[in-house]
Amino acid sequence: MLPKSRFVIALASAYLFGNAQAVGTPFGLAAGTTGGGNATPAVPSSLAELTTWLSDSTPRVILLDKMFDFTSAEGTVTGTGCKPWTCSPNPQLAIDANNWCENYEPSAAKTTITYYKAGTTPLKVASNKTLLGKGSSGGILGKGIKISGASNIIIQNIKIASINPQFVWGGDAIQIDGGSKIWIDHNTIQNIGRQMIATGYGAVTATTISNNVFNGDGTYSATCNGEHYWVALFTGSGDQITFALNYLYKTSGRGPHVGTSGYYQNVHAYNNYFVSVNGHAVDPEVGSKVLLEGNYFNAVTTPVLSGGGGQAYAPVSSSDAAACSSKLGRNCVTNIGLSSGALPGVATDTGTLNGFTSSVFKSANIMAASSVGSYVQANSGIGKVN
Ligand SMILES: *[C@@H]1O[C@H](CO)[C@@H](O)[C@H](O)[C@H]1NC(C)=O
Repeated sequence: MLPKSRFVIALASAYLFGNAQAVGTPFGLAAGTTGGGNATPAVPSSLAELTTWLSDSTPRVILLDKMFDFTSAEGTVTGTGCKPWTCSPNPQLAIDANNWCENYEPSAAKTTITYYKAGTTPLKVASNKTLLGKGSSGGILGKGIKISGASNIIIQNIKIASINPQFVWGGDAIQIDGGSKIWIDHNTIQNIGRQMIATGYGAVTATTISNNVFNGDGTYSATCNGEHYWVALFTGSGDQITFALNYLYKTSGRGPHVGTSGYYQNVHAYNNYFVSVNGHAVDPEVGSKVLLEGNYFNAVTTPVLSGGGGQAYAPVSSSDAAACSSKLGRNCVTNIGLSSGALPGVATDTGTLNGFTSSVFKSANIMAASSVGSYVQANSGIGKVN
């Protein structure tokens, strides 16, 4: 680690040379993303104005100076739900959205549930937008955001929380179904019904998800251990994602799940800090190539799930690291596990490297895994920039 004073100077100069609105410069696959560019930052005066500004065709820098609370704005819905999990305590229940219970959990007991409607209708985000929080107080409660076939978007320094956390299908925090040039940076996400972040089937390219806190600590869980299962899901038809410097805390699954049959996804996951994951972190399934570098797994039951049919490479030894050089033109940065399940032997598919031959991967600035815990704890999430 740099001494603190040198570290502050390094950060300050990074900000000075970034564009004036979003803080810092997008790196990795989203390099060059400008969002709302130089539009004058403006604070929406109401939930309705925020909704309009996010979805209209004007380039905007939308500044959130407080929590915009949509939780009860659309009332509640009482209807049929089901109980897919029988563990205890506090299993999530599922909303019977599109007959999901009948189609996918036919043996689950039915029950009557009441949830907030706002969680099920995300805010649409159009192209050329920056959504930026001020200090540590800006964000959205009770509703998530959805990018659908849009490009050039920055979401930075906001909190997204409290979206029907008891209910699967109660809402995602961030959905991206097709899009490019997207930078999701320095946000904090907690207490969500379904995914903290998910791509759909449309290709999500030139996208970087960085410095976010995925805080899985909550009452309700599909795994009944107070840890959120539905963290990150990348299933698009050609997703190209940098997933770096994120803090995954008390999660139990999909951290991230990558892959879906018939499509391919390349995810460069580096310098992430995984802590207290009583379940699995990375879940590479069919179609995926996941390159893991310089990640730190601290008390993670299963750092990389095997058997899903995806390709993953998580070097741990110097010879693993050296095996990267023929494709990346450099050695890989090794991963570390502490009090965690096995890393060696679970993600050794060097064929993964064929997905990471472009210059953005070769030139990635990756710190040693041994520095990741302190760096990510000090710098991720809301309130660290702007
Ligand atoms: C976004 O901005 C770019 C560059 O100014 C412009 O070409 C494009 O049409 C804009 N997209 C939309 C959907 O407004």
